Amino acid sequence: LEQTTTLNNGVKMPKLGLGVWKTDNKSAKESVKTAIKKGYHLIDTAKQYGNETGVGEGIKEALAETGMNRKDLFITTKLFNGDQGYESTINALEGTLKRLDLTYLDLYLVHWPVDGKYIDTWKAMEELYRQGKIRAIGVSNFDNDRLQDLLNHADIVPAVNQMETNPINQEKGILEFNNHAGIQLEAWSPLGGGEALSNPEVNKIAEKHNKSAAQVILRWDWQRGFVTIPKSSHEARIIQNSDIFDFELSEAEMDAINQLDKGKRSLWYENFAWHGGEYVDEVDHWDDS
Ligand code: A2P
Repeated sequence: LEQTTTLNNGVKMPKLGLGVWKTDNKSAKESVKTAIKKGYHLIDTAKQYGNETGVGEGIKEALAETGMNRKDLFITTKLFNGDQGYESTINALEGTLKRLDLTYLDLYLVHWPVDGKYIDTWKAMEELYRQGKIRAIGVSNFDNDRLQDLLNHADIVPAVNQMETNPINQEKGILEFNNHAGIQLEAWSPLGGGEALSNPEVNKIAEKHNKSAAQVILRWDWQRGFVTIPKSSHEARIIQNSDIFDFELSEAEMDAINQLDKGKRSLWYENFAWHGGEYVDEVDHWDDS
């Protein structure tokens, strides 16, 4: 998995990694360890997931077992909504580094655009970047209006915008805007919660290449320029999801998948996410000590 993309600040980021949303500490530790041992270099977590400690343990054990160095990995985590605001963003990094047991992050993302706070938050992200504990800063779940607002106030253009995207939710307008702004798109839930995996067109293409539906979707992401971070807690799937470099989707196959877009984001996303307050209240179960 040597394939990387060069971010707008010159940092190289792997184009395929492991996501660990909906994974507890114990399971995250195992998945991360397996993934790194099987060649993954990019790991994506968030304080919100409540598993930074497990991710950190998985990293440490994998490095010990493989003889790899920390600098061979690319670790992303995300600022929790409840920590948004200038001072609290500055303070949040320490807790995150402590839980992950790391001295620096490769990428730190603002998890959601909490209205009324994301500009101050971004100013703090810029400060943390300048202090050198983060190799790149970015955002997640920013639609074009909020991203434009952020850009109007930013000194540093986000390196990455991580969005929910998959064949039935392609976010073409967001891709276009971000490409234009020099921001790398990254796909969360790239397999689309099952619906994309069972799509007949995707499965037809998969059969033709003797690959799985998941591999076709991840390859499509790769060819359309997204960084992609499928989650799996199963070793066989972790291995399978990284085995996408021995085949290529034709233009006609890319087009066929491009036609599957239904603009279908997860329901909760529309209902809760961009009203950061409601989302914040939901979660208070990790330990910042
Ligand atoms: P599991 O963890 O049991 O393997 P996404 O990253 O798009 O949110 O998708 C994650 C979901 O897809 C999880 O439920 C995961 O289940 C499942 N999944 C991950 N990889 C594969 C695969 N190669 N084939 C089928 N399902 C997969």
